[in-house]
Amino acid sequence: MKKMDSHNQVTWILTFWCICSSSAKSMKYNHLELCSAGNIDYKDALSKGILFFEGQRSGKLPATQRVKWRGDSALSDGMLENVNLSGGYYDAGDNVKFGWPMSFSICLLSWAATEYSNDINSANQLPNLRTAIKWGANFLLRAHTSSTTLYTQVGEGNRDHECWERPEDMDTPRTLYNYTGNILRLWGDCALS
Ligand SMILES: *[C@@H]1O[C@H](CO)[C@@H](O)[C@H](O)[C@H]1NC(C)=O
Ligand SMILES: *[C@@H]1O[C@H](CO)[C@@H](O)[C@H](O)[C@H]1NC(C)=O
Repeated sequence: MKKMDSHNQVTWILTFWCICSSSAKSMKYNHLELCSAGNIDYKDALSKGILFFEGQRSGKLPATQRVKWRGDSALSDGMLENVNLSGGYYDAGDNVKFGWPMSFSICLLSWAATEYSNDINSANQLPNLRTAIKWGANFLLRAHTSSTTLYTQVGEGNRDHECWERPEDMDTPRTLYNYTGNILRLWGDCALS
């Protein structure tokens, strides 16, 4: 069963990667067509895609933060169990930090940075991309609190979804979830990141 799971995960990642790279190829093709037809600015789109991650930041924000309407948030995440789980990224429009989608995202960002470094560099986005990767990877490292323990979620999904509030003001529970033991799929994503 475990084997099946990790096999499926690998298949899924590869499928996703194939879709991404083939759409990236067709984007290049379309880019030629669209550029001659109009004014699509892919460098701008790329920079905004990376800037998005700054808007999702949790924790103490650095002076270099470019998304200025965000402030420090969730500085005591992890304190309930004496671990430091501040930092990382919020998920979508939530104030929950989900380890799995976070590690998957960091993994894909890292993959893109490796595979397309020249293109990304030509848009002057490599330093921003690396910073985005580091912000997530540092959190994942801190969430790995012992050789057999990985914190995989901060915040309680149901309570969080019941109210819409800024992470800077949130008053919903910062419940901690950890996994101990054999969790191949999750470890795999984190290790890849
Ligand atoms: C948690 O770790 C971050 C990053 O290393 C650090 O800036 C912060 O001060 C730490 N928080 C606590 C409460 O120790
Ligand atoms: C992990 O979660 C369990 C169950 O919620 C909790 O008892 C334990 O203290 C947590 N931390 C570690 C390191 O296992």
